[in-house]
Amino acid sequence: MKVLVTGGAGYIGSHTLLQLLREQHEVLVFDNFSNSSPEALRRVKQLANADFEVCEGNIQDAGRLNEAFGHFKPDAVIHFAGLKAVGESAEKPLDYYAQNVSGSIELLQAMQRHDCRRLVFSSSATVYGEAKYLPYDEHHPLQPANPYGRTKYFVEEIIRDWAAAWQDASAVVLRYFNPVGADASGRIGEDPNGIPNNLVPYIAQVAVGRLQHLGVFGADYDTRDGTGERDYIHVEDLARAHLAAIAFSSTSKGCEAINVGTGRSATVIEMVKAFEQASGRAVPYKIEPRRSGDVARSLAAVDKAERLLGWTAKLDVADMCKTTWNWQSANPNGYRQE
Ligand code: WQD
Repeated sequence: MKVLVTGGAGYIGSHTLLQLLREQHEVLVFDNFSNSSPEALRRVKQLANADFEVCEGNIQDAGRLNEAFGHFKPDAVIHFAGLKAVGESAEKPLDYYAQNVSGSIELLQAMQRHDCRRLVFSSSATVYGEAKYLPYDEHHPLQPANPYGRTKYFVEEIIRDWAAAWQDASAVVLRYFNPVGADASGRIGEDPNGIPNNLVPYIAQVAVGRLQHLGVFGADYDTRDGTGERDYIHVEDLARAHLAAIAFSSTSKGCEAINVGTGRSATVIEMVKAFEQASGRAVPYKIEPRRSGDVARSLAAVDKAERLLGWTAKLDVADMCKTTWNWQSANPNGYRQE
């Protein structure tokens, strides 16, 4: 199948791209490299031993999208491209609405113009907000607590309306829990700009000696050990969920939102211990005050993914830490050469 992948050079995009190529799909990557590197694409080509097209452009650029769609004529789109830093989204909300919401509308319009009716969208469990109950199932109320989460929520709603209005359209909205880990090769992985906001990249940089210690944001939550509990999902499992969603979209109609998690959780301290075990390095930490906006616990209900997509997560926290360490130790500066 011909699949156009927006944001295909990014963390989750690059891992999904590798699996698409291994499954013999024809791919065009549409990316502006605003938070990713062409080096990731070069490495995916090597790993897959397969080629694909690249169109450098912003999804807000209707002309560029038109060129890509007109030339490639995709059967389906996987839409990863977007800004994703929660803190930054509160400082620059309009940038987030322009890039994530307006950009997604441009993409849907290009799909419509070129008669492409199948879409898989990168959403986030952050659309649920404060838990009314756990695990979060797909019927849980949607009350995102920050502009980033609201952009994902609005785009979900726009996609739902688009799919309802257009006969034969099929959209799958994947709500990711906490994606971590790297490809088993250690050649591609997460490469955050500057000091990482997220737990596992931060731990990895402490273990490799780039950062001195981890700040644990709160040890007084109502959890097993007082630290925040999350449903971490290996990026390789997550990538596989996209291939299952693309296959599902060939027989389904309308819009389905589906959680992508493991249904199991780990606390901050459990992740630190698992990472020490996997890396053989110490990860010193200090307990610090809670981070504003954090919830105590997050956990996915995973039965809908299994029922509709035939997909379940296979990899565990030990695999997540081991592959993160492989990637981080082989590429201490990420895709940068210095
Ligand atoms: C996990 C746990 C922190 C850093 C975020 C976004 C979400 C999605 C995934 C999407 C929490 C604790 C963290 C640190 C810590 N993003 N922590 N010290 O907040 O669950 O989800 O990333 O694109 O939308 O909100 O993930 O990795 O930041 O935090 O103690 O230095 O680790 O308090 O309990 P989070 P996270």
